[in-house]
Amino acid sequence: MLVQLTYASKTATILGPGDVKDILQSSARNNQAAGVTGALCLANGIFLQQLEGDRQAVNILYHRILKDPRHKAPSILDLSEIAVRQFGSWSMGLIAASQENRQLFLKYSSTAEFDPYKMSATTLRAFFSEVIQNARWLS
Ligand SMILES: Cc1cc2nc3c(=O)[nH]c(=O)nc-3n(C[C@H](O)[C@H](O)[C@H](O)COP(=O)(O)O)c2cc1C
Repeated sequence: MLVQLTYASKTATILGPGDVKDILQSSARNNQAAGVTGALCLANGIFLQQLEGDRQAVNILYHRILKDPRHKAPSILDLSEIAVRQFGSWSMGLIAASQENRQLFLKYSSTAEFDPYKMSATTLRAFFSEVIQNARWLS
């Protein structure tokens, strides 16, 4: 069964570009093997990640990610069954926290700062769906 899991967490320390690169390298390696696709966004000290794939594979990955000391305060924001994948070919796309992206983040935020913890499941789905349509937002 194909599912999509969306969660947010907070960076545990100040992360450098090397940390994000390391996460993306692990993701490329492991997610492809596990048939998991998705996107990761880092803005305002908050990670927002959407994972999609087989329910068991997504669960196994999420529980591994939970143990990662680079983040804290994880919160599942949405878990839905999906008919088709959105991130067909991305083992893990990074949504860069550029100035341009701030506009996209804020478009879907009720608050002045990007705060996915406060976003509804519907809004989160709309956010990721726009991200996918605008692949130029990806770094
Ligand atoms: C916010 C965040 C998202 C992550 N996403 C993934 C992911 O999608 N896939 C993955 O394999 N590891 C991800 N990781 C890293 C894992 O926690 C873990 O370090 C890694 O899977 C270990 O695998 P490796 O030994 O092959 O590098 C993430 C870590 C963080 C902090």
